[in-house]
Amino acid sequence: SVVATKFASFSSVDQLKSVLTEYSYDSLLILGGGSNMLFTQDFHGLVLKNEIKGFDIVEETDESVTVRSGAGEVWHEFVLRCIKNGFAGLENLSLIPGSVGASPIQNIGAYGVEIKDVFYSLEAFHIPSGAIHSFNAEQCEFGYRESVFKRKLKGQYVITSVSFRLSKNPTINTAYGAIESELLKMGISTPTIEDVSNAVIAIRSAKLPNPKEIGNAGSFFKNPIVLKSDFEKIHQQFPEMKYYEVSATEVKVPAGWLIEQAGFKGKRFGDAGVHKNQALVLVNYGNATGQEILAVSKNIQETVFATFGIHIEAEVNVI
Ligand code: EPU
Repeated sequence: SVVATKFASFSSVDQLKSVLTEYSYDSLLILGGGSNMLFTQDFHGLVLKNEIKGFDIVEETDESVTVRSGAGEVWHEFVLRCIKNGFAGLENLSLIPGSVGASPIQNIGAYGVEIKDVFYSLEAFHIPSGAIHSFNAEQCEFGYRESVFKRKLKGQYVITSVSFRLSKNPTINTAYGAIESELLKMGISTPTIEDVSNAVIAIRSAKLPNPKEIGNAGSFFKNPIVLKSDFEKIHQQFPEMKYYEVSATEVKVPAGWLIEQAGFKGKRFGDAGVHKNQALVLVNYGNATGQEILAVSKNIQETVFATFGIHIEAEVNVI
């Protein structure tokens, strides 16, 4: 385990302000749920846990509703609350670990939906000035598991609330094959948003390890995006390689497939390992250190590169 020099939590902007003035610190780390992080060493600074709560309807029409959530709410609880109210758009993102405030930072996504699709705006505390700034979707510069908060504004803001524009007349999104087959298994032909949520929960529970039971940070790697011109050569050599077109010039390759083919699926190195049902997820069977998990991830990256000539980038935040 690793140690932080100082730790505090805050449940309002005022509390955040007073913590930042009362504590002296050299470096600062803001945690949502901490579910997408790998700690490889002690943190010599101040760790702050965001516990700002709240659920408000800020605008409502016959068709849609804008819901604002405190950044410290648990993501899945927020999703369930929206579903219960009949607000559609987040059901495909059920059971993702973490907090609402962390969701825009890496534009969380699953089963054909990313939060950028339903994101309306967010409010964030600007650490250097103490001002509250508002960001719309464009200003967040969302990309695949990316936003401006991971890039040029990294470390400058604490997200305090996030608003989503949700629909009261849902269009169910079951395009992702696994959802269709799960609904079929459940014997449902005209699914409600609750059914979609239940299908996603069933798929995730079967494929992904529960972080409460076995340490993991979800997908450890991003699915690499490869230029079509490069991919064509690789694909000739590995015709069975799966891929999805993402633009006129690029394809996305499932890293889970690459890692599995490279022989790592289900492998264990001491207490560090690769999940048996989803090779994209690294797991800690108990006492692996962050360094050991990182070493396994490097080994995977090198082997995948040596085998396929494709670099896979980490998705988790390594501290
Ligand atoms: N695959 C394998 N072997 C594996 C894992 C996957 O061959 O061990 C193949 C599958 O057969 C499938 C393809 O890879 O053809 C895609 O697999 P899957 O549907 O499980 O999704 P993924 O691309 O591996 C991504 C996200 C997940 C998200 C799922 C579902 C990333 C980095 N990961 O995984 O997100 O839940 O799609 O939409 O984009 C996360 O970010 O932490 C996360 C869990």
